[in-house]
Amino acid sequence: MEHVTIKSDLMIFHYGELAEEDRMLVDIAREATANSYSPYSHFCVGAAVRLEDGTVIRGANQENAAFSVTMCAERSAIFNAQSNYPHLAITHIAIAAKNIDGFVKNPVSPCGSCRQAILEIEQRYGRDIKILLCGVDVIYVFDSIKALLPLSFVDDSMR
Ligand code: THU
Repeated sequence: MEHVTIKSDLMIFHYGELAEEDRMLVDIAREATANSYSPYSHFCVGAAVRLEDGTVIRGANQENAAFSVTMCAERSAIFNAQSNYPHLAITHIAIAAKNIDGFVKNPVSPCGSCRQAILEIEQRYGRDIKILLCGVDVIYVFDSIKALLPLSFVDDSMR
């Protein structure tokens, strides 16, 4: 028997410590929560993705009375970017969320499906995506979605 520990690097920033371009993306993700359609959960998620040419695309969660039809903010933003700018890699994604009391204190984490969708984009363009998860006071930063999805399933897994 072998015991293996899988480690991930997480960097924790205060808003003011972020580079200006990262602060801007955090601001846009927070703004994007206003575009959430979430009459069922009242949990408003906003995402902002930056493309390699600097273009920023927003996303917000879109709920449905048939719950499984709901689309998360991250995938709304990513699929929008991919549909309109398929020739441009995504370099960053920021995610923010608020509930009925306001922005959530702890950084919000993407669901498993969104992690898998972000991983596909890293694979497609051969480029890591910087992940910014926004809390009220601190921002969690990962250099790649791979830190949040160890032992992941990718195209190569089928060979
Ligand atoms: N949600 C997101 O938008 N992104 C995530 O990564 C997690 C969950 C949304 C889906 C649903 O509208 C609400 O949050 C509650 O699950």
